[in-house]
Amino acid sequence: MEFISLCFLIFSSFFLLNYLLKFFSFGQVKLPLPPGTMGWPYIGETFQLYSQNPNTFFASKVKKYGSVFKTHILGCRCVMISSPEAAKLVLVSKAHLFKPTFPASKERMLGKQAIFFHQGDYHTKLRKLVLRAFLPNSIRNIVPDIESIAIKSLQSWEGNLITTFQEMKTVCCSNSYAFNVALLSILGKDEVLYREDLKRCYYNLEKGYNSMPINLPGTLFHKAMKARKELANILAKILSLRRELKQNHTDLLGSFMGDSEGLTDEQIADNIIGVIFAARDTTASILTWILKYLAENPSVLQSVTEEQEAIMKLKENSGDDKVLNLTDTKRMPITTRVIQETLRVASILSFTFREAVEDVEFNGYLIPKGWKVLPLFRNIHHSPDNFPEPEKFDPSRFEVAPKPNTFMPFGNGIHSCPGNELAKMEILVLLHHLTTKYRWSLMAPQNGIQYGPFPLPQNGLPIKITLKR
Ligand code: HEM
Repeated sequence: MEFISLCFLIFSSFFLLNYLLKFFSFGQVKLPLPPGTMGWPYIGETFQLYSQNPNTFFASKVKKYGSVFKTHILGCRCVMISSPEAAKLVLVSKAHLFKPTFPASKERMLGKQAIFFHQGDYHTKLRKLVLRAFLPNSIRNIVPDIESIAIKSLQSWEGNLITTFQEMKTVCCSNSYAFNVALLSILGKDEVLYREDLKRCYYNLEKGYNSMPINLPGTLFHKAMKARKELANILAKILSLRRELKQNHTDLLGSFMGDSEGLTDEQIADNIIGVIFAARDTTASILTWILKYLAENPSVLQSVTEEQEAIMKLKENSGDDKVLNLTDTKRMPITTRVIQETLRVASILSFTFREAVEDVEFNGYLIPKGWKVLPLFRNIHHSPDNFPEPEKFDPSRFEVAPKPNTFMPFGNGIHSCPGNELAKMEILVLLHHLTTKYRWSLMAPQNGIQYGPFPLPQNGLPIKITLKR
C-alpha cells in the first residue's frame, strides 16, 4: 500500500511539475497568443480568406482585433501584423528571428537555392551579387537598350486592341516589355539567341506555379517541373558559351559568374530562374495599374505628358544624344510620384511571409516558434492614419515624404527588393514614349480586380492604343 502511495506521489509530482514548467517558462509567466480565431481544424480560416477579396478579410480582422492578430490559413498557424512599427520589427530590427518561408512546391519550382528562400551567410553573399548587377551605376549602361525595347513594344501595340498585362509580361507576346527587359538585365544580349525557348519554358513554368503540386504525367505541375529542367539546360548552355569566350559581362549572370568564392552552376540557375520570375510579373502588373490610373485621371495624365514632353524638347534642343539616359529618368518627379502612388494604391504584394525561428515576444504576445508571420503591406498602405483618404489616387501626396515605415512597396530590410531601381527606370522609360507619342483608351469600365496571384485590373486591362497626330 505504501508503495502505491509512493508511486501516486511521484506521478502527481511529475504532472504538477510539468504543468508548472509549461505555465512558467523558467520563472516567466507565459505570454498570451495574439487575439483572433483559428477557424476549423486543419482548414482554419482558409475559406474565409479566399472566398472574398483577401483585403476584406484582413480589414475585418484588423477592425475586430487590432493590428496584430492570429489566424490559421492553408494549414499554417499565422500571426498577421499591420502596424508600421511591427512590420519594421519583423523585417528589419529582429529580421534574424523571422526567416523567409514559402510552400515546398514553390521552392522546387523556382529552385531551392534561390535568394528568396535563404537567410544568413549564403543569402548575404547572393544579395551582394544581385545588388552589384542592379545598382544605378550598373543599370546605367542598359538604358538605351531598354529604350529600344520600349519603342518596339509600343510600335507593335499601335492601332491594336491589346490586353495590357499580357503584353507587358507574357511569353506568348513577342514584344512583352517586362519579360524582355528582365532577360536583358539578367542575361544581357546573349539572351536573344535563346529568347523564344526561354519564353516557352516560362510559359509552362508559370502555368504550373499556382497549380496543385501533384507531380504526375499530364498535370500542370509536372509540365512546370519539366519546363524548369529545360530552363536549367538552356542556362547551362549560356554558361558554357560564356566560359569559352571568356568575356566580362555586367549583367546578373556576369555578376554571379564573377564571384571569386564561386557559386555552383545549380546555384546560378536557381537564382537566374527565380529573379526573372520576380522581375517580370511585378513590373508588368504595376505598369498595367499605371495605365489604368492615368486613363482614369486625365489631369494627372496631362501633367505627366507635359513633364515628358519637356524632357523630349530639352534633349532635342540641347543637341545631345536623343537617347534617354539614367539622369533623364531622375528628372521626372511628377511621373515618379505617379509610380509611387500606383505602388501604394495597387499594393501588388499585399503581404509577405516569414516564419518565427524561435519563440518571440512581440508587443506583449507570444509568437511561437514555427508560426508564420505576415506583414500586411496593403493594410499599412491603405490605413488613413498613414495616408489620408487612402482609396483616392492622388500622386501629389508624395510631394511630402511618407512617415517612416509606412510605404514599403519593395519590402524592407535584408530581403527588400534589389531590383527596385531597375523597375522604376524601366517604367519611366516606357511612360516617356507612351505619353509623348500615344493615346490609349480603356475598353470597358474597370472596377473589378482579379488575383493571379497579384491583384490586377479585370481581364488584364484591355485597351486600344493609337498614335497621336
Ligand atoms: C514594381 C516592381 C517590383 C515590386 C513591387 C517588387 C517587390 C518586391 C518585394 C516587396 C520584395 C520583398 C519580399 C519579401 O520581403 O519577402 C522583393 C524582393 C525581391 N525582388 Fe522585387 N519587386 C519588383 C521588381 C523586381 C525586379 C525588376 C527585380 C529584378 C530584376 C526584382 C528582384 C527581387 C529579388 C531578387 C528579391 C528577393 C530579395 C531577397 O530575398 O534578398 N524585383 N521584391
